[in-house]
Amino acid sequence: TDKIVVAIDGYSSCGKSSMARTLARNIGYIYVDTGAMYRGVTLFALREGLIHGDGTIDEAGLRARLSGLSLTFQRSGEGEEPVLYLNGACVAEEIRSMAVASQVSPIAALPFVRDFLTKEQQAMGQEKGIVMDGRDIGTAVFPKAEMKVFLTADPKIRAERRLKELRAKGDEVTTLEEVLTNLEERDYIDTHRAVAPLKQAPDAVVLDNSFLSIREQDLMLRFAFEAVL
Ligand code: C5P
Repeated sequence: TDKIVVAIDGYSSCGKSSMARTLARNIGYIYVDTGAMYRGVTLFALREGLIHGDGTIDEAGLRARLSGLSLTFQRSGEGEEPVLYLNGACVAEEIRSMAVASQVSPIAALPFVRDFLTKEQQAMGQEKGIVMDGRDIGTAVFPKAEMKVFLTADPKIRAERRLKELRAKGDEVTTLEEVLTNLEERDYIDTHRAVAPLKQAPDAVVLDNSFLSIREQDLMLRFAFEAVL
């Protein structure tokens, strides 16, 4: 059978990435985490001093420097999952920090940033055989994707899952309240921005994973994929 494009969109910290990664591995497709790319641009802007202390962004500066930014997914070793590299250096850990999480949605709302990353994502999916997750994959990046999933979960449950991850990584200070506030702020900005806001594509299958185990969710996705073929 011909390869297809699988678009997975949804709210922050719904478990999109792990779900998309598992599906891609199971069906032998390439997996692309577009959130990592927006986080990469944000880390770049922070490092270049283009985000000021009060959160304002030097948009002209960022626009001018974007052409000097290369984002790629590479394996750091044999059998490793590909992770994000910024201008040749691995930034997999840094892009998951709260510093990046709290600045990424305003950066992702900038039309020239979206334009830059959307083009790269479309090029990555040109040959199909790809599972891409994000906020606008089924609506803007690949509006003709053969399979679209819109993932959602209760915000409180999402925050608890996210906090567990942060704790596992040694973050002992971030509170549940802070995580929940960050999720809600990102969801608000992501759904209200002018360009490519997060919204369910009319032809997307909706999956609420609040009360699904990872195994149940992976199975449902696999069935949905088989049904499309
Ligand atoms: O998926 P993740 O939570 O890592 O995404 C981080 C942020 O990047 C989102 O909150 C959103 O602001 C932005 N994003 C986006 N479009 C995408 C993927 C992510 O605007 N396709």
